[in-house]
Amino acid sequence: MNDHILELRGVSKRYPGVLALGGCSFDLRLGEVHAIVGENGAGKSTLIKIATGVQQPTDGEIRYEGERVVWRNPQEAIQRGVAAVYQDPATFPDLSVAENIFMNHQPHSAVSRRIHWGELHERTRDLLRSLNSGIDPRASLGRLSAAERQLVEIAKALSVNAKVLILDEPTSTLSRSESDELFRIIGDMRAKGVGIVFISHRLDDIFNIADRVTALRDGVHVGTEDIGNIDHDKLVQMMVGREVKNLFPKIETTPGKEMLRVKKLSRKGEFEEISFCLREGEIMGLYGLIGAGRTELAKCIFGMTRADSGRLFLGDQEATLKDPRAAISAGIAYIPEDRDEEGIILDMDVRENITLPLLETCSRLGWLNHELETQTATKYADALAVKSSGLDQKVGGLSGGNKQKVSLAKWLASHCRILILDEPTKGIDVAAKAAVHQLISEFASKGYSILMISSDLPEILGMADRVLVMHEGVLKGEFDREGLTEEKILSEALSG
Ligand SMILES: Nc1ncnc2c1ncn2[C@@H]1O[C@H](COP(=O)(O)OP(=O)(O)OP(=O)(O)O)[C@@H](O)[C@H]1O
Ligand SMILES: [Mg+2]
Repeated sequence: MNDHILELRGVSKRYPGVLALGGCSFDLRLGEVHAIVGENGAGKSTLIKIATGVQQPTDGEIRYEGERVVWRNPQEAIQRGVAAVYQDPATFPDLSVAENIFMNHQPHSAVSRRIHWGELHERTRDLLRSLNSGIDPRASLGRLSAAERQLVEIAKALSVNAKVLILDEPTSTLSRSESDELFRIIGDMRAKGVGIVFISHRLDDIFNIADRVTALRDGVHVGTEDIGNIDHDKLVQMMVGREVKNLFPKIETTPGKEMLRVKKLSRKGEFEEISFCLREGEIMGLYGLIGAGRTELAKCIFGMTRADSGRLFLGDQEATLKDPRAAISAGIAYIPEDRDEEGIILDMDVRENITLPLLETCSRLGWLNHELETQTATKYADALAVKSSGLDQKVGGLSGGNKQKVSLAKWLASHCRILILDEPTKGIDVAAKAAVHQLISEFASKGYSILMISSDLPEILGMADRVLVMHEGVLKGEFDREGLTEEKILSEALSG
């Protein structure tokens, strides 16, 4: 008898053309936080999906509470107390937050067997409040930001009385104080004896919260260690099988002429009187907590929404960007945070996705041919190490991080001179992160201007020349890179 609540033994999973897992083992104890790390496409999410009945293993067995189980679907696992937050959750954007959270277990009135709406909203509000969030239980999910939706997913997992809680990349869009809140809850659950599986590409998170860590590489188990026995370098070594140096290989540049100026831009309920300028060759970081209005600001600059007041200048010309098409032809690209919905087309292959923005300009000029398409796609897919079975693999079948890389590649391959990047390395592994940073830095050194929204403080500090900090729609400050610290940025972002 051992104290393992959940165990996977020799699990394999074959997708058409891909061996996602090849005989992988994993075990979870009660009252521990067990982290799983590995590069994009290593098989982490696949392992989780097998553990929760979303996918059936091709081979191997699952043991739960000491006996062999076969989950035919996720509901069977949930009923036994296995709850999960998935990396790409299936949600219902038209339903309310509360309906999404209690999808399969709404509270019913004992008498009429009708859904008890009052209780449903009450419980939802309590759950969200425990995450320090004031999201309205009645709001339709589709209207929330990616980060808010992530909080809703977490609340959903917490709504089940779980013995095992699995979190696949729960912090990728959360800022530090929101992650801290989640870690506090995870700590409480651990103390109550819940077994927790935690997947993250933020290695700091792992050292912060994990008791043990398991590394996967190419679908196999590389090792499991107590967190006290390893350090950062050893962990990276386990994940990628080699050393990764230079996480933020910033190339020093001297900013040139003004490319974009925003003057007192306001949009009711989103942001107020935002002013800043972005110069040639400059990387401007934009930091803030959930609800700070960073994405809303980006969407407005990109012409996806209309400002109520304020002005926008490109060079010395005033511009009105009435829609994204106008923004793109003015040389602005926006790489959204929510790439599954806005960034890429899952039904199209890697090549088509990367060359999509080129298609319009080039085919109009009459010179886009298959060869050029392939060349461009190959160049960026290689630079970002997109793991796929080839350029003609459909993007829908890629791992979470690899989807992100494709959507980045797509805009880097376009000829826009002003790039607005919303969480550019969300869900991207350490090695690829270094590659993305390298590319961003190279673009800046070639004179591109970059506005980089990020919730990752080391990334902001490592990459940005200047940093803007927003709080509840208001710009709290603009800082030079010189002498800037995490504490300084955080205190501005938190200050009311
Ligand atoms: N539905 C699918 N169809 C085909 N291949 C898939 C499917 N889902 C995953 N794969 C492949 O299985 C492999 C493992 O993917 P998985 O999503 O488990 O990786 P991961 O470790 O979670 O990566 P990431 O850090 O990017 O989230 C990848 O090569 C991926 O392309
Ligand atoms: Mg994954």
